[in-house]
Amino acid sequence: MSTIPVVVQSKSVAAEGIMSFTLVPQTGIDLPAFEAGAHIDVHVGHGLIRQYSLCNAPSERHRYLISVSLEPQSRGGSSAMHEQICAGDILQISAPRNHFPLVNAERYLLLAGGIGITPILCMAEHLSAANADFEMHYCTRSPERTAFRSQIADSTYRDRVHFHHDSGEADQKLDFGRLFSKLGRGTHVFLCGPTGFIEHATNTARACGWPDEVIHFEYFSAAPVDASGETSFEVRVASSGNCYVVPPGQTVVSVLAKHGVEIPVSCEAGVCGTCLTGVLDGQPDHRDVFMTDEEHARNDQFTPCCSRSKGDLLVLDL
Ligand code: FES
Repeated sequence: MSTIPVVVQSKSVAAEGIMSFTLVPQTGIDLPAFEAGAHIDVHVGHGLIRQYSLCNAPSERHRYLISVSLEPQSRGGSSAMHEQICAGDILQISAPRNHFPLVNAERYLLLAGGIGITPILCMAEHLSAANADFEMHYCTRSPERTAFRSQIADSTYRDRVHFHHDSGEADQKLDFGRLFSKLGRGTHVFLCGPTGFIEHATNTARACGWPDEVIHFEYFSAAPVDASGETSFEVRVASSGNCYVVPPGQTVVSVLAKHGVEIPVSCEAGVCGTCLTGVLDGQPDHRDVFMTDEEHARNDQFTPCCSRSKGDLLVLDL
């Protein structure tokens, strides 16, 4: 896939553990247009590709703004962005893609948890410019870990934004049940954040009678999995008939790569769907957040960057 070279115009601390990067065109030509909710792939070096949501206003074509949280369990992406990428560097990025688009609605409820603020901020910028009816709730561990505080304070939509901190008083914490009960029909909710945040919010919305069609969310990573009970299984490559053992702690992608069977990957975390591979026989142990429950139940494809097998053998459509 072709990439776009961009220059890191600036790199700054957005909050504790969060760096913001302003990316501008290397050529002086405008960057591709994007919609709120879009992300780009960033080639961070050493073959690593990571997805980051664009958080500036979609009307801007002269720059892309991304923010990266340093993950304690970083598999190399966020630590490379924090420690190795500097202002003045040239990065290769993809054109924006959007798996989290806004839809037409009477009213919008925007919910961000932690670094999940990035696509939500872009939505707020867009909805504000469009004079749409929205309110936003932004939950973080503490004020120090809250990115974009001054940008929001200086914005025209600051009165629509409510901050909630885990470290604060109980009465400022977000009461999801009350929020979903307060807002009536015609509201669509868009939420982004850690897995637990999304699951709690979506479960509460459903319990308050919100239908699935009005609940929109985007995960940043699949839930951490307890790997202690993992066992070996075999994968058979249908085209060659060759079988390979996948031991505990190794992925199907890594085992196949060692034997010259390359599967393209990007996030390596079950989020992006780049590695999606057909399954001709066997039952995958799905560990991604890319596919829907219905797609998981069909068991005809899986994400070999993170998913495993429930049985002894998976036959792959490769
Ligand atoms: Fe992203 Fe597998 S590489 S889901």
